[in-house]
Amino acid sequence: MIELKGITKVYTMGEIEVKALDGIDLTIKEHEFICIMGASGSGKSTLMNVIGCLDRPTDGTYHLDEKDVSDLNDRQLADIRNKKIGFVFQTFNLLPRMTSVRNVELPLLYSGDSEKERKRKGAEALEKVELTDRAKHKPNELSGGQRQRVAIARALVNDPSIIFADEPTGNLDSRTGLNIMALFQKLHQEGATIVMVTHEMDVALHAERIIHLKDGKIVGDEQIENPKDAAEEYRLAANLEEDGLKDAIVKHE
Ligand SMILES: Nc1ncnc2c1ncn2[C@@H]1O[C@H](COP(=O)(O)OP(=O)(O)OP(=O)(O)O)[C@@H](O)[C@H]1O
Ligand SMILES: [Mg+2]
Repeated sequence: MIELKGITKVYTMGEIEVKALDGIDLTIKEHEFICIMGASGSGKSTLMNVIGCLDRPTDGTYHLDEKDVSDLNDRQLADIRNKKIGFVFQTFNLLPRMTSVRNVELPLLYSGDSEKERKRKGAEALEKVELTDRAKHKPNELSGGQRQRVAIARALVNDPSIIFADEPTGNLDSRTGLNIMALFQKLHQEGATIVMVTHEMDVALHAERIIHLKDGKIVGDEQIENPKDAAEEYRLAANLEEDGLKDAIVKHE
């Protein structure tokens, strides 16, 4: 589905050249759930931007669904993004004045769908993330985890063949993060291809495969035999918290 060969990305700033990606060879198959790990500055976001057709490589070839997308212009890249790709960001990137459902419908404005069709798809995406009852809320009327669920619904709304997520749990507490990871695992089970960037091993262990980046190079590619089950961990954490509360109440009495 995704095939990168000898991908480099060089940023030129005056006299200085930064090689953010340095000869990346990577194949990602359909229905994979893959995490990209690496220290700050190792090239994770740059790699995701290239695979997500937000940015072009300086060198190398990139085939997406058998089509060479290495040399497309901005319009052509935007077109591919609209048809095939959903993005989820660390900071949610929701429009503050719009309700959840309007935020979710946003990517469809460029799709040529009728208003009726946009509404139907928006409602359906919100249902997938179990937020139908928050459709009329604006971002500041939602919890952090709910905001990220809206952002995930927005990424799902045009039925992308691949979902990219850059540190999607970075701004959430650990329990809410598990809830979001459980949602990604559910989407994966339903057939989605997911590429996630994280610097936390705990998060990465929910994927099937982990790619390690260092100085713009792939230094590790491991298959995870038994990915952790986020829904199960979430239940355990919730139970522990409840037990803790009971203990505290008993002690208090
Ligand atoms: N637009 C840009 N112009 C110049 N240099 C850039 C640009 N974007 C990134 N870089 C450089 O490229 C390298 C890789 O950056 P990138 O954002 O991909 O790192 P990252 O692994 O995502 O880090 P983090 O974990 O901090 O998000 C860094 O050295 C960075 O300074
Ligand atoms: Mg980054």
